[in-house]
Amino acid sequence: MLLLVLGTAAGGGLPQWNCACPGCAGARAHPARRRLHASLAVRARPGRWYLVNATPDIGPQIEAHPELLPSSAPGADARRSPLAGVVLTDAELDHTLGIARLREARDGVDVLATAPVRSAVRERLGLGAVLDPYTTVRWRALSGTGVPLEEGSAIRVGAVPVSAKRPRYAAAAEPDPAWSVALRLHDTGSGRTVLYAPALASWSEAFEAAAREADVVFADGTFWDDDEPVRAGFSQRTATAMGHLPVTGPGGTAHRLAALPGRCLYTHLNNTNPLGDPHAEQHKRLAEWGLEVAADRMVIEL
Ligand code: MLT
Ligand code: MN
Ligand code: ZN
Repeated sequence: MLLLVLGTAAGGGLPQWNCACPGCAGARAHPARRRLHASLAVRARPGRWYLVNATPDIGPQIEAHPELLPSSAPGADARRSPLAGVVLTDAELDHTLGIARLREARDGVDVLATAPVRSAVRERLGLGAVLDPYTTVRWRALSGTGVPLEEGSAIRVGAVPVSAKRPRYAAAAEPDPAWSVALRLHDTGSGRTVLYAPALASWSEAFEAAAREADVVFADGTFWDDDEPVRAGFSQRTATAMGHLPVTGPGGTAHRLAALPGRCLYTHLNNTNPLGDPHAEQHKRLAEWGLEVAADRMVIEL
């Protein structure tokens, strides 16, 4: 299995356009600290790639990776994109707005999503009717059992529900455990598995079982501790109340991840998270637990 880490930031990115908090100011002063919105690319088979979530940064994310670009070789079809589709973990704006950027797709695009996510993006966000005149979006069901990314691909993708939290624009929609899922990407050839969970509202038994089986786990690193959003002054709600278990403190995920057999990396970092500063002392604590922070443009091959 081959994965490209396209971005590792929570909604807003690092820096966020309207913010000058220490994290955002630090990222402006030190460009190496910049993080695009959290996303992965996974290779379904040679020359065919799927994005995990389609972020507002999708344009620069594709441009940063030659594997995702059409070939300019003489005789090549200049409009043949290796990008075949998108798999969604949820319907949040930071994970779905990029779908609209794919309107130029000549051969259409596959979007794999759970039922509530699909109907939110199509009907409430309006991307069903809006994209129809431009390209063909082939909506495919994502469920617990898993499906091949596409015909002929050894990679199977399945969903593990992790949160019933609806996006704010879909507040009126029905509750459903599949509003936000972790993706289980399993390579039937090598037997290797990656679990991708940019939002974790609780640590369920199903998630624990999936995490135990995974060779690599990408976990919700939105907030370092539960009070961070309140302390930073941008929310009245704790991290947990916002649907993101914090890294440390009561309910923290670090000690649980540290007990897993696989490699664990935090992603979806909010710009208030001290881990955005490579010199922060919090990195030493993570290293003691044997945990990592994912970096933009990391390549994972397993
Ligand atoms: C989240 O991760 O909780 C959402 O992206 C929040 C948001 O962007 O509104
Ligand atoms: Mn988010
Ligand atoms: Zn900020």
